[in-house]
This record gives sequence, C-alpha cells and structure tokens, in this order.
Amino acid sequence: MTRSRFGRFSDIRVQALGLAVVACLTTVQCSGGGSSSGGGGGPIVPGPTSPTPTPTPVGPETFVGAGDIAICGGNADATARQLDSIGGTVFTLGDNAYPSGTRDEFRNCYEPSWGRHKARTRPTPGNHDYGTPGAAPYYEYFGANAGFPGAGYYSFELGAWHIVSLNSNVPDAGAAQLAWLRADLADHATTRCTLAYWHHPIFSSGPNGSIASEAPIRAYGREMFRILHEAGAELVLVGHEHQYERFAPQTADGMLDPARGIRQIVVGTGGVPLYDFQATRPNSEVRIKAHGVMKLTLSSDRYQWDFLPISGPGDSGSAACH
Ligand SMILES: [Fe+2]
Repeated sequence: MTRSRFGRFSDIRVQALGLAVVACLTTVQCSGGGSSSGGGGGPIVPGPTSPTPTPTPVGPETFVGAGDIAICGGNADATARQLDSIGGTVFTLGDNAYPSGTRDEFRNCYEPSWGRHKARTRPTPGNHDYGTPGAAPYYEYFGANAGFPGAGYYSFELGAWHIVSLNSNVPDAGAAQLAWLRADLADHATTRCTLAYWHHPIFSSGPNGSIASEAPIRAYGREMFRILHEAGAELVLVGHEHQYERFAPQTADGMLDPARGIRQIVVGTGGVPLYDFQATRPNSEVRIKAHGVMKLTLSSDRYQWDFLPISGPGDSGSAACH
C-alpha cells in the first residue's frame, strides 16, 4: 500500500536563509542565530558586587506521539485517548491521514481523533500525505505548526532541546533541506541535546526496510542522518513501518557507535493496520507489534523513552545526551 514519490533533488528551489527565517517565525520558541550584543554603548564592566549568574534550570519536557495514524475505522481513536492523559507537545511521524491525505480524510479520520490535540502538535508529512498533490491538505490542516507551507521542514526549541522536523518525501524537500539542516544545526551548535524526526526509516526490520523502490529515499534519509550524527544529535524518530522498533546508537552507515551514535526509533504505531516483522536487522534492540504512542521525557542533559502500547508490554529506558 505504500506509495513513494521522489525524483531529482534539484527540482525545488528554496533559499535556505529565507526559509530559515520564515520557519523561525512559525515556531513555538525560536532560537535562531544572529544574536548580537545590541545597545551600541561601550563595553560593560561588571561592578565588584555583581553576583555570579546562576543558570536558570530548564525542567523536563514531554514530547509524545507516533506516525501512521488516522484511517477511519482504525485505532487512532485509542491512541488519541492515550494522548488525552499525557501533557506536553505532540509529534506526528507522517502518514497522518490515510490512504491519500485528502481533505476528507483529515476531516473525517484525523480530526475526530488526534485532531483535538492539533494546537499542540508539530507534524511531519509522510508519503500517504503526499498522495494528494503537494500534500496540500496536510499543509492546510496543520497550518503554521507544519512550518513553511510546502517545504515541510522546520525546527523549534523544547526546554533545553533543539527539535528538528524534516521531510523525507523528496523532491518536495531535496537539496535545499540538506543545506538548511546544516545551517540550522550550526546555529545551535552549543545546544547539547538534539532530536530529529521524519517519516521514512533508514534502518528497519519491517517490510519496507529493504524494498528497492525506496532505496533513493533511504539514501536521502541517510544524508540527513549523517549531518545529524556529525552535529552530535541523540535521537531520530521515524514511522512508515507500522510497528515499533528501537535500534542501538549507530552511525549513518549502520555501525555501532555507543559514544556518539544516534538512536533511531520507529514508531509507526498511531492507528493504521500493523505490519509483521521480517528478518531482524543488525543493531535492532527491541521490536513490538502494537498500537501505541511514544512518550519522551526530555531533560537538560538526558532523555527517557517510554513506548506505551494500548495493550501488551512496552519499552522504556533512558540515556544521557552526548
Ligand atoms: Fe509511509
């Protein structure tokens, strides 16, 4: 049922700087670069009684969600009820409205379930959202919370964390997104903890993990992963496979990297029919076939993950930021 849309990366011309500025204007908390001392006065010399500044503690933030969510008659109602009792910011990992991301599917399937959390939702698009040209209903439905219309990538701050939502549906993202990602991460080089999310996994033991038609998408995602790894990011969340799978920290080429690797977690468990696992891929640590949501607790220097299935055993753990 999966349908992929990709092509030449150069098809889209977006000026990275301009987009970064627009994305900044549409985010929850913008921490874009270019800060200046301002004021225009002479040097400020602290007096002898100036107190030592104490860093303001940043409390943990909750970031909760899943991908592959709303098909009428599916389990999105059940996962939406899980969200009802969990505060914080909601993410989606694409394929928000099945099967074609139409206006009717957003109105009739997504809105009555996850729609009641839309105001606190930061989405990312999937290939099914692009089943309607340009994913126009997706951008209309989520509005400013989806970043610059048509681009599908943006970033924001959540507590002490830098969060990046990316678009793996090339060519709608393409080379411009990679340039923007490098600049965005450079602007936040002093932020210790970074999380990114998009739709298509790079690593997966599911049925889409090795199909040839999606090889260009995996290659594109690998470039995003490589840029994030070089920047020291901790987590990548993806969907597309209708199951839960957690990998050990790896490089973009799938080499174990306990010290600096990125932990990729597949959470395509939002409500559409589940997939069976295929052959287990290297460095896959946990696989669960169940609907549910992933709750992340993001502290200033570490994170905890809790996959909460609507029935059956889940998956929990924690790790320090790099
Ligand atoms: Fe998908």
